[in-house]
Amino acid sequence: MADVSFLLNGEIVRLDGIDPTTTLLDWLRDSRGLTGTKEGCNEGDCGACTVVVTDGGGPRALNACILFLPQLHGRAVRTVEGIAGPDGQLHPVQQAMVDLHGSQCGFCTPGFIASMAAAHAAGATDFNDKLAGNLCRCTGYAPIVRAAEAAASEPVPDWMAEDLAVLGAPESDMPVTADALAEWYLANPDATLVAGATDVGLWITKQFRKIGPVAFLNRIPELAGIAVTDEAIRIGAMTTVSEFGAFIAGHHPGLAEMIRRYGSTQVRNAATVGGNIANGSPIGDSPPALIALGATLHLRCGADRRAIPLESFFLDYGRQDRKPGEFVEAVSLPRQPDRLKCYKLSKRFDQDISAVMGALSVTVEDGAVTAARIAFGGMAGIPKRAAAVEAALLGRPWTLETVTAAAAKMAEDFTPLSDMRASADYRLKAAANMLIRYFHEDQGTAANVLEVSA
Ligand SMILES: Cc1cc2nc3c(=O)[nH]c(=O)nc-3n(C[C@H](O)[C@H](O)[C@H](O)COP(=O)(O)OP(=O)(O)OC[C@H]3O[C@@H](n4cnc5c(N)ncnc54)[C@H](O)[C@@H]3O)c2cc1C
Ligand code: FES
Ligand code: FES
Repeated sequence: MADVSFLLNGEIVRLDGIDPTTTLLDWLRDSRGLTGTKEGCNEGDCGACTVVVTDGGGPRALNACILFLPQLHGRAVRTVEGIAGPDGQLHPVQQAMVDLHGSQCGFCTPGFIASMAAAHAAGATDFNDKLAGNLCRCTGYAPIVRAAEAAASEPVPDWMAEDLAVLGAPESDMPVTADALAEWYLANPDATLVAGATDVGLWITKQFRKIGPVAFLNRIPELAGIAVTDEAIRIGAMTTVSEFGAFIAGHHPGLAEMIRRYGSTQVRNAATVGGNIANGSPIGDSPPALIALGATLHLRCGADRRAIPLESFFLDYGRQDRKPGEFVEAVSLPRQPDRLKCYKLSKRFDQDISAVMGALSVTVEDGAVTAARIAFGGMAGIPKRAAAVEAALLGRPWTLETVTAAAAKMAEDFTPLSDMRASADYRLKAAANMLIRYFHEDQGTAANVLEVSA
């Protein structure tokens, strides 16, 4: 049971002894009668349940269906009912949706309004990205994007300001230091840690699992944030994928571009870098890129800390080098000249799980390859380096001949599966072609996957 305080449409809510796996969406609709927020997929895919959540980092769009109430502690939530003004005045994005015919059946509209209001409050103008997590089945996206564009120049209404100070310093039963978490988790090694809940949320809403004791990590400052020194970049486990993407654009733009296609705005605003590693998924998008950058994983168990190469954390499908009671504190990257390119291959451009995710970093000095770190997701039961391909590049001249010969070694490194996303043969060919594409791009040939768009 958990005690939680937050602002809901400007009013203080204090809840004692709630089931910590109650989703915001269920609570809004069943306990508060706020049925404007819709349930479409209940798994983070459609955006019908989008709400605006504000904390010290500003407003952001999140999916209420996979957001547990304790994740809101100390924050402010605004649903579609609170996006219009107190006297019924429409928010500029609502007025623009009316004026420009952005709604037909209306089922998706509250979710779009919440995403648009969050983007509007943040001054964002990349509406194709900001709205990629909202699905509309009747209007078509052009009028909706036109409405977002039309509202962009209007000021943010006063009623959207959130006064988090009125919450005071609300008490809760969640750990607020890494020490407290370490001690508690060591004593409760079968407990579930919840970071952004973009995986754990689905265990509840789709698999109806009872997950026993839970610890929410969102109140622990030591696990959040990114620290940069001359040698390394340390990314706290609770850094969201959105925060990581915005930061890494200045260091490794190819990784930031891949992250733009990771889930949707709402998913990236919730999902954490630590969760994307700890879940051990063979198709997680950040591990191959982090491995290609030579990342180190920082683990903690009670008072003991250890640091391991990220690639050695993934032992086998569903099995990681993690002891009972051990958790991810951070991942760090050595500072390095940028040679990274990431190729996310999925059936849809936006909001899709990768069939293959290739991350390649090849260093060339005086025309010869002096270092190569190449890692793939979707090619094995774990994110994995292409050791034979790397060996075939090292010390050789950086030519198409070398690269073609190295690419042919892909079958020595991987025996991928066939599944609904891709066949084994396709995966092998695609991975080999990614290396060849890397070479051509490095020689200055543009290979923009969007160039054939309408
Ligand atoms: C609609 C949708 C789209 C998605 N698209 C993508 C995508 O494009 N690419 C992609 O890679 N993933 C995608 N995902 C998967 C998911 O977003 C990621 O795996 C995410 O990074 C998980 O992070 P989280 O913070 O939400 O983890 P949670 O769900 O909170 O936790 C996941 C697991 O990690 C454990 N855990 C979390 N933090 C720690 C820690 N610090 N130490 C130890 N254990 C920890 C939890 O106990 C749990 O077992 C998508 C998910 C959804 C719902
Ligand atoms: S109901 Fe579809 S994303 Fe929440
Ligand atoms: S208006 Fe009907 S689904 Fe968007």
